[in-house]
Amino acid sequence: MVCLGNICRSPLAEGILRHQLEEAGILDWEIDSAGTGGWHAGELPDRRSIEVAKKHGIDITYQKARKLNGYDLENFDLIFAMDSSNYNDIIKLAQSKEERDKVKLIMNELTPHQNQVVPDPYYDDNGFEEVFQMLDKACAKIIEHYR
Ligand code: 4NP
Repeated sequence: MVCLGNICRSPLAEGILRHQLEEAGILDWEIDSAGTGGWHAGELPDRRSIEVAKKHGIDITYQKARKLNGYDLENFDLIFAMDSSNYNDIIKLAQSKEERDKVKLIMNELTPHQNQVVPDPYYDDNGFEEVFQMLDKACAKIIEHYR
């Protein structure tokens, strides 16, 4: 799960997907998140993401932000970008067609081919619940699609 800072959207996506996988009894998927930028590396998720996750029964306080790297593209089977700018930045890191093909816009799982984006809620305190709802639906589709 990849966004810009790895403190708002992708930590939520990671926490939601892990939670849904546990509920589905799927324990052998390796889930992680990262940011295309490294400014927040080492930090906890944004407190507003922590709060909205907690409200829905999900703890994301064990997470620490980190920057996406080339090994991620090599080692993970699927890379989900939150928006088109993340998508373009990830594609620039990819070294082969195989790696480029792993990169998807996460909302295309729910609404295929529409290239809908998960809005950056950093400057919008009220945006976090909407982001949670979008990611919750998209993660359910990811499990349906790839299980
Ligand atoms: P995220 O949100 O990409 O969902 O983690 C942001 C967090 C921090 C910044 C931008 C977006 N920032 O500019 O510091």
